[in-house]
Amino acid sequence: MTNQDELKRAVARAAIDYVPIDSIVGVGTGSTANFFIDELARIKHKIRGAVASSEASAKRLMGHGIEVLPLNDAGDLQVYVDGADEITSHLHMIKGGGGALTREKIVASASRKFVCVCDASKLVDVLGKFPLPVEVIPMARSSVARQLAALGGQPKLREGFTTDNGNIILDVHGLSIMNPVELESTLDHIAGVVTNGLFARRGADVLLLGTTEGVKTMTV
Ligand code: A5P
Repeated sequence: MTNQDELKRAVARAAIDYVPIDSIVGVGTGSTANFFIDELARIKHKIRGAVASSEASAKRLMGHGIEVLPLNDAGDLQVYVDGADEITSHLHMIKGGGGALTREKIVASASRKFVCVCDASKLVDVLGKFPLPVEVIPMARSSVARQLAALGGQPKLREGFTTDNGNIILDVHGLSIMNPVELESTLDHIAGVVTNGLFARRGADVLLLGTTEGVKTMTV
């Protein structure tokens, strides 16, 4: 296991403290979320089940014998645990490196508390070095790409990738995102955009950051 993996595992373990007994847990997607799923398996007898933000996470949860419920049957969730591609000290994030941004945003919005789990490399001053993923209805690809370019970004089609919802991803390079709340809304208003990877209007409530000095807890 690499050093970075050790940090991811440490934050995943720390996130278990935020899981209420007898709850249905919102579960994110990605390598850090995978560590969280593995930790969740250790306490599976203490939870009612999970709502997954992707087919991949659902598969991993079920592989551990954790019941996966549809969000429509679960009601509001007490906690959602997920990683991020970039996060600021305001707990605004870029997500969607794994392409699961739409379901992640849905499950996060149905959850009372968002606990973000990251290794220290994800903490940035300004969002945008990581290309911003935008999920787009396939027929709108060119039109959306032109509008993203007009906003100052360089959109690139994620080749050979289809989301769990049957859509494409445009990864927008070259943005320096000074006002993530405003840009998130602007992008959501482009016809053909399903979701963009800015999680700023509803950011994280708690960040568990894995550092070589241990797990740091940050809130806004
Ligand atoms: C998945 O679509 C993403 O939003 C992930 O949450 C994000 O990419 C973080 O993934 P890692 O934990 O693998 O870095």
